[in-house]
Amino acid sequence: MSIESVAPTAPAWTIPGYLEAREGHLMISGVDALSLVAEHDTPLFVFSEPRIRANIERLKRAALAVERSVRFFYASKANSNMAVLKTVLEAGIDAEVNSGGELFKALRAGFRPEQIIFNGTSKTDAEIDAAVSAGIYAINVDSIYEIELVEEAARRLGKRARIALRLVPEIGTRSHLGLQTALLTSKFGISSSEVLEAFSRGLRHPDLIHVCGIHIHVGSQTPDVEPFAIAFKTMWEHLVRIERETGHTLEHINLGGGIPVNYLRDPSQADQLPEHERDMLGAELEPSEVLSAALRVARESARAAGAEHLLEPLTILLEPGRSIIADAGVVLTTVRNIKRRPETGDVWLLTDAGYNLLLSMNNYKWYYHLVSATRADKEAATEYKVAGPLCDSGDVYFDIERGGRLPDYRRLPAEVKPGEVLALLNSGAYSLAQMFPYNGRPLPAAVMIREDQRADLIRRRDTYDDLVAQDIW
Ligand SMILES: Cc1ncc(COP(=O)(O)O)c(C=O)c1O
Repeated sequence: MSIESVAPTAPAWTIPGYLEAREGHLMISGVDALSLVAEHDTPLFVFSEPRIRANIERLKRAALAVERSVRFFYASKANSNMAVLKTVLEAGIDAEVNSGGELFKALRAGFRPEQIIFNGTSKTDAEIDAAVSAGIYAINVDSIYEIELVEEAARRLGKRARIALRLVPEIGTRSHLGLQTALLTSKFGISSSEVLEAFSRGLRHPDLIHVCGIHIHVGSQTPDVEPFAIAFKTMWEHLVRIERETGHTLEHINLGGGIPVNYLRDPSQADQLPEHERDMLGAELEPSEVLSAALRVARESARAAGAEHLLEPLTILLEPGRSIIADAGVVLTTVRNIKRRPETGDVWLLTDAGYNLLLSMNNYKWYYHLVSATRADKEAATEYKVAGPLCDSGDVYFDIERGGRLPDYRRLPAEVKPGEVLALLNSGAYSLAQMFPYNGRPLPAAVMIREDQRADLIRRRDTYDDLVAQDIW
């Protein structure tokens, strides 16, 4: 078979009904990626409403399977575009926010205050005031000091605030260190040794503060079920102890986010990555597995402690971000330049999407699977060096530091030419929310494919005027 031939079966990255190759082109929820490029140019973010809804349905099915009260709070930090928030709201789940800005956006999108949880390590007085006066479901306090800040805000505003305590009980995962958040060396949460002190502080003025829950987030892209189970057991044991020592019963345990997404899409293309990186990036973990493992350990512990009556009325909260929006988004990019390096034998493809759009490609060396949208059905067997448009050598689709965290070459069809459109898959999370206009590059447009295959513009492309809009001169 020649390297230019059509792949014999559907490409490995295919997700039937969502991501497919048809008549050579990449189709996204039934819409030809190249028609979107013809209308909106590149770089372009494309989101699929049906895929977001399918991801949320999968979570809801997991909740039904465990027959418990479970609430999902979409981690809006993953992507807080207003149309995305609206889709999440309409799909019937709640929102987690991480700043006054995200709180503002969630409220503006139509989430009711009792549908909102507020996390964050460094909340300002103004942010706390906004959360307390809105009357949100829970402010997750990050320290004992912050309990005092919330109490002061409640007193000032004459409103009772609901808080949950965020804990950090030293639970490791196999994700990147920068994405692990339950280690004592991390900046988050209250140590287990201070839990009782924190709770008694929280319970001191019940007219001002209601302590409704306990929270942990072990980290993002957590490939195994064990850290979730250990985290839940630890939170559960704290809950029992608090009830015994203070008589106060918590309403919920919040297990955070972190359900992983399979970024590899075609594992044969990621064969150059170290095994642990492949395991982490290619993880498949069903939300139902996470919930059932957590409940199994809590049930055992409840039985042993004679505390089943505390488990029955408990609500479990999850804060999924990535698992809702990552695979529902694609970045389309055009090859704008090509060059050969006779000395190394490399062919370089220079695209219009770099780490200005996918920051984690640079700071975590995160892998986004790359395919040709123009020749989606062709076998991808030719190796290229691929890079973005920015002015630094680190703006490449491989690990410039030679740590081997990304493949040195990306495999695409033979004879890629300038003008060919490529697609970075699974790029809906922590991308649009983190992009920046470095090198004077206007931020790109985004479209959302609807159930009826309409493609709505959900973010207009910045203009050059936007680049100077905030400058004063
Ligand atoms: C407190 C908290 N909850 C939820 C999330 C969402 O995590 P993920 O997008 O991996 O589901 C994060 C992100 O790191 C977080 O910090």
